[in-house]
Amino acid sequence: MRDEDLIAAIRERKEHLSMVFLAHLYQRPEIQRLADFVGDSLGLSQQAAATGAEIILFCGVHFMAESAAILSPHKRVLLPEPKAGCPMADMVTVGALEELKAKHPGVPVVCYVNTSAAVKAASDICCTSANAVKVVESLGVDTVIFVPDRNLAHYVGRQTGVRIIPWEGFCPTHDKITADDIRAAKRRYPGAEVVVHPECPPAVVDLADKVGSTSGIIRYVTESPAREFIIGTETGILHELERAAPGKRFHFPVPDKQLCPNMKATNLKKVLTALTDLAPQVTVPEDIASRARVCLDRMLAVGR
Ligand code: 13P
Ligand code: SF4
Repeated sequence: MRDEDLIAAIRERKEHLSMVFLAHLYQRPEIQRLADFVGDSLGLSQQAAATGAEIILFCGVHFMAESAAILSPHKRVLLPEPKAGCPMADMVTVGALEELKAKHPGVPVVCYVNTSAAVKAASDICCTSANAVKVVESLGVDTVIFVPDRNLAHYVGRQTGVRIIPWEGFCPTHDKITADDIRAAKRRYPGAEVVVHPECPPAVVDLADKVGSTSGIIRYVTESPAREFIIGTETGILHELERAAPGKRFHFPVPDKQLCPNMKATNLKKVLTALTDLAPQVTVPEDIASRARVCLDRMLAVGR
């Protein structure tokens, strides 16, 4: 089937279903164009919690669809490519987290949303890159365990002054961007501002004019008087950057490295199949979901 036919067929299925179509900002442009809501992981969680629709079509990665299933337990959550995981989320297991907790009794556990439902169930509060600083500050403690992203942990520690016991996890996509890559881009585009995601290594964050979640990056470039930006995150964000800030110029220092294969695994054909079969569905066993929900609800109460 040609793309135009797939798009028409998806639109037609959408009309007949009580559904909301959610897409992360790293999805392919043709997927973002079809979505009812395009956002960062916090925005997508908020939409999943609020929707009245019976079906949530989630174009993102597995932990995001799992969060939607936890927050909306009576909805059918579809993930068009069930193998779209997040390697960073897989870097921490419940068993290993329990061992770390046992070494630091009484220290609260903050888990990044990029974790499995089971890890959320074993944590005290969740956060995304959009609210990690606010979430840690909300606890009013001097030490926290933070899993699994060591780079975000480092950033949050610096911003809050709270002692962070980190986990050695990282995003293979963001962690590949180096300070030398940014310096080379600055030489090429001397007037450009540097805007990066906090999953980048600390040496990259140190060179940034602004550090933000995907939606934070979009907000910043829209409001900044600058006309040119060096962007330190996944290239899928370009679609929304160009839509939100027309006429501004965006440069990706190492575009070949700035790709998340899992985010790109979803395509139009898989979306149409999911809407036809109403599968693959993502579910979370209620004993895990009920504890993970507490962790997510605490984060949503803190907000952005
Ligand atoms: P956001 O929370 O900024 O959407 O990022 C999610 C993610 O997976 C980043 O790699
Ligand atoms: Fe996971 Fe990184 Fe892909 Fe985000 S970009 S989903 S953190 S692998």
